[in-house]
Amino acid sequence: VPAVAQGGGTPAGDDVIVLGEVGALTGGQATFGISSRNGIALALKEANAAGGVKGKKLVVRVYDDQSKPEEAAQAVTRLITQDKVVLILGEVASSSSLAMAEKAQAAGVPMITPSSTNPTVTEKGDFIFRVCFIDPFQGFVMAKFARENLKLNKVAVLQDNKSAYSIGLTEVFRQKFAELGGKITVTESYSQGDTDYRAQLTAIKKTQPEGIYVPGYYSEVGVIARQARELGLKVPLMGGDGWDSEKLFELGGSAIDGSYFSNHYSPDNPDELVKKFIADYKADYNGAVPDALAALAYDAARVAIDALKRAPDTSGPALRDAIAQTKNFPGVAGVITLDAKRNAVKSAVVLKVADGKASYVTTIAP
Ligand code: PHE
Repeated sequence: VPAVAQGGGTPAGDDVIVLGEVGALTGGQATFGISSRNGIALALKEANAAGGVKGKKLVVRVYDDQSKPEEAAQAVTRLITQDKVVLILGEVASSSSLAMAEKAQAAGVPMITPSSTNPTVTEKGDFIFRVCFIDPFQGFVMAKFARENLKLNKVAVLQDNKSAYSIGLTEVFRQKFAELGGKITVTESYSQGDTDYRAQLTAIKKTQPEGIYVPGYYSEVGVIARQARELGLKVPLMGGDGWDSEKLFELGGSAIDGSYFSNHYSPDNPDELVKKFIADYKADYNGAVPDALAALAYDAARVAIDALKRAPDTSGPALRDAIAQTKNFPGVAGVITLDAKRNAVKSAVVLKVADGKASYVTTIAP
């Protein structure tokens, strides 16, 4: 796994504070890792321009986990034992964050995942934090939207059985949709990396659902959308934050049009803080509009920097305590107050896919 020093490329020394980052820079979730890296780099650049922290510059060591939980866990071990980082940012995919959290907690090094939503991630221990909402809420959001906005009565589910995120979200959606008076016709499964979903989609079609919930990641969802349409399944697809990637539109083409997913952030937000973030991000990354991953990673890095400033020193326990005290922190993906379980409680947005982009539909509060 190649390590890349960012934020000036300064080597570790007494004049710098070294942070660690683990992300999927290659593999099936590569856009997640790249967007997150960009958001973190922007936050560090701004902090360094404003004088750094405790008179020191911030640098970040980044490891690519190739979208694999085992690699993510190994990267954490390297960050802690070789690079001696004071804090770790990452991952996006909950399965990878779970593998990392185990190591970070055991070593007493604080970890902040910007975007992993499976509830068990922060249950790994008191050194593990997140700046996003969790899936019991996200699953409720789409169940409510499906029942109340789309007025669906019968929905099928297609889950990724290799992803803790997808399995968790499936469970919550099934339960909430039923509680709201809807019926789940069938639940089918695939494994991350599969390319042929026709058998599952054919089984789903037989149950005549009015919609299909597909809480997976964009690499698979784009292909699933195409194959569903090929098989004559015309009903709306619905999903969660794992759909958030430019690649979804490339892979899904017009087959993904008319679908909906829940997410953390919409660049359509007219808030001043959000507008400034989008402008600064575009300036640094060739005009790219930041997605939710970039926004949450930027927020996670800024929460970490804020804690570094407030903590009496950069030891693990001091940083842990400072992060835990994060209150009313103005993030670009919503205001962050960490609760006793080290999670943020925030609203979700629902986006609609049409013509190669996702547009804001509504906000659902917890
Ligand atoms: N919430 C997803 C997970 O836990 C990761 C994700 C977040 C993906 C935001 C895209 C956008 O696995």
